[in-house]
Amino acid sequence: MAVMTGNITIQSCKPTDPQPSTADWKAHVRAEDFSVFYHRNEAVKKVTLDIPVGQVTAIIGPSGCGKSTLLRAINRMNDLIPGCHTTGLLALDGVDIYGPQIDVTALRRKVGMVFQKPNPFPKTVFDNVAYGPRIHGVRRRAHLAEIVERSCRQAALWEEVKDRLHENALGLSGGQQQRLCIARALAVEPELLLMDEPTSALDPIATDRIESLIAELRGRYTIAIVTHNMQQAARVSNLTAFMYMGELVEAAVTDRIFTNPQQRLTQEYITGRFG
Ligand SMILES: Nc1ncnc2c1ncn2[C@@H]1O[C@H](COP(=O)(O)OP(=O)(O)OP(=O)(O)O)[C@@H](O)[C@H]1O
Ligand SMILES: [Mg+2]
Repeated sequence: MAVMTGNITIQSCKPTDPQPSTADWKAHVRAEDFSVFYHRNEAVKKVTLDIPVGQVTAIIGPSGCGKSTLLRAINRMNDLIPGCHTTGLLALDGVDIYGPQIDVTALRRKVGMVFQKPNPFPKTVFDNVAYGPRIHGVRRRAHLAEIVERSCRQAALWEEVKDRLHENALGLSGGQQQRLCIARALAVEPELLLMDEPTSALDPIATDRIESLIAELRGRYTIAIVTHNMQQAARVSNLTAFMYMGELVEAAVTDRIFTNPQQRLTQEYITGRFG
C-alpha cells in the first residue's frame, strides 16, 4: 500500500486554531477512522490520530475509555482475544498493520510493549534480556552478552544488575523488574515502545527513574504511554491524546492540552472533575 510521509495533522476541534510546533513531526503510527470491536462493543471508535516519530505521546482518559485497546492494537496484541476485530486504518510507517502482507512477528519486533505489572520471566536476568534476540536467531554468547549489557544500560539498570546477571529476575525489586522489562523490550531494537501504565505498580522513586528513562529514550524511539497520572503525562510527553468512551476527544501538544484545552470534556478531565 502507499507509503504515507505527510506531516502530522493534529486533530483539532477548531480548524482555525494555530497548531503549535508540530510541523516537523512525522507520523510513525497513523490511525484513520480506526475502530476496535470486542464482538459488538466498539471499544475504540473511529479514532484519527498520528503518533509522531521520536516523540512521546501520552494517551489519557477515564477507565474503560479504550486506551489499552488502542495501544495493544499497534502490535496486534488484541489478535488473541476472541471476537476482537478492527475497521478503518492503522498504519506503521505507512503500512497497514492489519493488511494481508503484514508479518506479525516482524511487527512485534519493531513494536515493543511494557505492561502495567512488571512481568519478567522466571529466568535469570541475562536470559530475560537475551530472550528476544535468541528468538530472532542470535546464538553467540559474546554477542548476547553485548546486547544484554547495552539494553540494561539503556534501561538505566546495568549498575544494579551487572553482578546479578545469573540470579532469578523475580528476586529484583518491582522498579528493577520494570526496568528489566524495558531492557527486554529494547533488546530486539524496536522502533516503537508501547507502555501501558508502566509505573502504576511502582513507588515514587522507581516511578521517577522510569520517567527519567523515558526522557532519555525520547528521540531514539517513538514512545506511546498510557497513564492515569496527569502530572506524569505533562512531565514525560510532547503530545497528549485524550479519549473518552472510545472516542478521541482531543489530541494536541501536551502543554496546550494542560493549559488551554479546546474541549470542555478535556478541561473537566484534566482538572479532576471526573475519571
Ligand atoms: N478482552 C476484552 N474482552 C472484551 N471486552 C474488553 C476486553 N478488554 C477490554 N474490553 C472492553 O473494552 C473497553 C475499553 O477497555 P480498555 O481496557 O481498552 O480501557 P482502558 O482505557 O485501558 O481502561 P483502564 O484505564 O481501566 O485500563 C471497555 O468497555 C472494556 O470492558
Ligand atoms: Mg487500560
